[in-house]
Amino acid sequence: MSIKVTVSPTKEQAVKAVAAEIAALIRARAAEGKEAILGLATGSTPVVLYKELIRLHKEEGLSFKNVTTFNLDEYYGLPGTHDQSYRYFMNTELFDHVDIDKNKTHVPNGMVPQEQVAEACAKYDADIKAAGGVDIQILGIGRTGHIGFNEPPCGPETRTHQVKLDELTIKDNARLFFHGKIEEVPTSAVTMGVGTILDAKKVILLAWGENKADIIKRSVKDAPSEMCPASWLQQHPDTEFVLDTAAASKL
Ligand code: F6R
Repeated sequence: MSIKVTVSPTKEQAVKAVAAEIAALIRARAAEGKEAILGLATGSTPVVLYKELIRLHKEEGLSFKNVTTFNLDEYYGLPGTHDQSYRYFMNTELFDHVDIDKNKTHVPNGMVPQEQVAEACAKYDADIKAAGGVDIQILGIGRTGHIGFNEPPCGPETRTHQVKLDELTIKDNARLFFHGKIEEVPTSAVTMGVGTILDAKKVILLAWGENKADIIKRSVKDAPSEMCPASWLQQHPDTEFVLDTAAASKL
């Protein structure tokens, strides 16, 4: 199966259609009295999408009252109140600005005692299933080819689990976040597995900028492999890569 690729001149233009698709899903489900289930990502990439969703809420009356969310991942060892935790990120970048019920927003718990992590991960997968499965999963991509925090090597069957972070990811995240301090970046995380992600009905991977161009090319063009976890998306029946011109420049 080949991945559908949509290229726009800028990320601001690129996310318009994605936000419109999410809004259409939410409104269609609301009309049926049902929930829309969104899978969400953190990092620098989706911020522009969340800005557009907030605009749709404030200016066009899009309500998030019938929305349930499941985030991809969380650093292990950071409480949700820590300003670098993904729970904190989601609250400040999206949830605090729309009318979503926070009780229906799920982020893996990074503070579970080590001996209970496996059980908490299994429950996260079970909760996604019980909610009816993810309708639209938003992804970014790391320069290692990771989706969620599934670093290479990673097969397509993995479920929510604890992972050790790759050196390159720790470096990239210290550069952008953690006040630039590498020693403050946690060394492990809890993440949905590639198999969990592949269960979503639709997957939309966003990528901006030239420094993502190589890994985008590998993910779309090379045979699926454990060395590039994003390449497993080629086996998903409804995956779209939404790119700006720079991220698409090597395709
Ligand atoms: C975040 C996540 C990661 C990021 C990836 C890209 O929830 O799962 O896979 O999407 O590390 O990060 P940015 O967007 O900062 O380049």
